[in-house]
Amino acid sequence: MILVTGGCGYLGSHCAVELLNNGYEIIILDNFSNSEKRIHKQIENIANKKVKLEECDIRDRKKLDQVFLNNKVESVFHFAGLKSISESFDKPEDYYSVNIIGTVVLLELMVKYCVSKIIFSSSATIYGDYSKLPWHEKIDLNIPDSPYAQSKIIIEKLLKNFSLKHNFLKVAILRYFNPVGFHHSGLIRENSKNSTNLFPEIIKYLNNEKPHINIYGNDFDTHDGYGVRDYIHVNDLINGHIEALNFILKHDKTYNYNVWNLGSGKGRSVLEIVNAFEKQLKRKLKCVIKPRRKGDLGQYWADINKAKRELGWHPKKTLHEIVEDSLMSLKE
Ligand code: NAD
Ligand code: UD1
Repeated sequence: MILVTGGCGYLGSHCAVELLNNGYEIIILDNFSNSEKRIHKQIENIANKKVKLEECDIRDRKKLDQVFLNNKVESVFHFAGLKSISESFDKPEDYYSVNIIGTVVLLELMVKYCVSKIIFSSSATIYGDYSKLPWHEKIDLNIPDSPYAQSKIIIEKLLKNFSLKHNFLKVAILRYFNPVGFHHSGLIRENSKNSTNLFPEIIKYLNNEKPHINIYGNDFDTHDGYGVRDYIHVNDLINGHIEALNFILKHDKTYNYNVWNLGSGKGRSVLEIVNAFEKQLKRKLKCVIKPRRKGDLGQYWADINKAKRELGWHPKKTLHEIVEDSLMSLKE
């Protein structure tokens, strides 16, 4: 059985569906701090299977112990955590507590119950502002200053230390670039209430919840002056998780710890993204240029050769499909 922490969140819910589609038995754990209980039902509806759900905070050792005691967990997909860089400056204690302490509690219980495999959601943000593109896994981490990035770096180190100490533990670190889009059913989606990411902001504008799309800076040192990121469709990202698990299972005897970037391998500017929506909708979107956001880098994208080579994985969805699936989440 696979334990999916944060399984009702944006990425966890998509992963839950994909694991079920691949025949895995799963149990979802979430404290619903950034998701809704109805997502559990939607996952069951899409996969047409019943799924166990535990409402639990990953820091709640007693309750989490019961989850491991009562279920034969073999692997953990660890999505639960706080994820906003800007919010982490205002609430560093929450980010260190949920992300780091939560992972320590989880790991200690994994060791107690001899659960051997963990796939962890890390982030490209840990590369800091490394200037040579594309970013690959061997870059020396540049000590980015956000508590969010710090928490991810510490967890990566923690996972490495645990895997060295406990030989049976097998760790896969996946460093995500910018996951976007939704399951084509439109039934599971990101909780956009607190999000200020580009795609949810465009969707809010299209749902008439915002008068225009803010564009944060058009004077970056990039090909068209707009911020450039590596947007990867959530389905491709989640397939990378399934391939990482397959890789661990295939190399069971020798596998200990590994890190893979998951991105599209392509940089796309904010203007190119807005243009892609305009093309699909056959109308202009109202955009207002604003000053750069604090801490925003001009451009970065992933070197995904390691994941391609070792996992046999590659992203399949085109920008057209990413936009098409994002539009599924528009209100009727
Ligand atoms: P999300 O907020 O949609 O999902 C996280 C889930 O974890 C939510 O359902 C939330 O309720 C739950 N959760 C939070 N704190 C918890 C706790 N203490 N105990 C139990 N459950 C808790 O976020 P997401 O976009 O699905 O991200 C999942 C993971 O991927 C996070 O660790 C995030 O840092 C990482 N990540 C996300 C992105 C991205 O762009 N979405 C990029 C890089 C890394
Ligand atoms: C942010 C996080 C990153 C996380 C990612 C996906 C920061 C600094 N980084 O990345 O850790 O992996 O989200 O959750 O918070 N933009 C606009 N208008 C908007 C929103 C965004 O122009 O309304 C621009 C930004 O300036 C940027 C690009 O769009 O150039 C992407 O922004 P966003 O979606 O917020 O993601 P990141 O900042 O790359």
